Amino acid sequence: MASHLTIAIDGPAGAGKSTVAKTVARRLGLLYVDTGAMYRAAAYLAVKYGVPTDDESAIVDLLNRHPLSFERRSDDTLQILVDGVPVQDELRTPEVSSVVSPLSAHPRVRTELTRIQRQLSEHQGVVMDGRDIGTVVLPNAALKVFLTASLAERAARRAQELRAKGHEVRLSDLQRAIDERDAQDASRHVAPLRPAPDARILDSTGKPVEAVVQEILEWAGEVRGVE
Ligand code: CDP
Repeated sequence: MASHLTIAIDGPAGAGKSTVAKTVARRLGLLYVDTGAMYRAAAYLAVKYGVPTDDESAIVDLLNRHPLSFERRSDDTLQILVDGVPVQDELRTPEVSSVVSPLSAHPRVRTELTRIQRQLSEHQGVVMDGRDIGTVVLPNAALKVFLTASLAERAARRAQELRAKGHEVRLSDLQRAIDERDAQDASRHVAPLRPAPDARILDSTGKPVEAVVQEILEWAGEVRGVE
């Protein structure tokens, strides 16, 4: 079987995983898979159809009736389609952000999305980011990175992102919401947010994106060398 380079990037909310993972993927010619966007798409579906997020069976049903679909974009990222319509900004609204964590704690929802994520990495090299990629989804990934940053910096980055999209946000509210989501993600029974034992911890507080990218590219070069 051909071997593909797989890189897992996990970490708490707003650590810069998407930006970093996307850049690393592009430089290495790998597909970038944002698993958080899949959980967000499931949450968006629940909001769209008024399905309560604490009803696991109803959410699984909803995903079966409205399966997510995907298209690889020319820049090696993955476009998610909900009901055949491309979604992007809809996935990052404060409303979706507030329900995604409880929804993603349901084991059957995770089983379904994990299956899709593994399938995507079967025939191609990927950089996949999320919470449980190194621990559950791709435990044999060649490189595992746990990307983190101080809560204050993560909240500030997220505030900037949301303001650029026209959302009004208070930094203190955002900090509380992020902290709460991390606590929920880290304390759930199935696939909690935590570094894999063999993950390399990278604290990006105060570091520009390019420095973080370079560090990961160096590690990727090391693991490639021993493959
Ligand atoms: O962008 P941000 O770091 O805020 O979050 P995200 O990566 O878009 O993920 C949104 C939420 O999806 C997380 O807070 C988790 O509750 C859930 N998630 C998960 O459970 N497992 C993953 N592999 C990825 C995301």
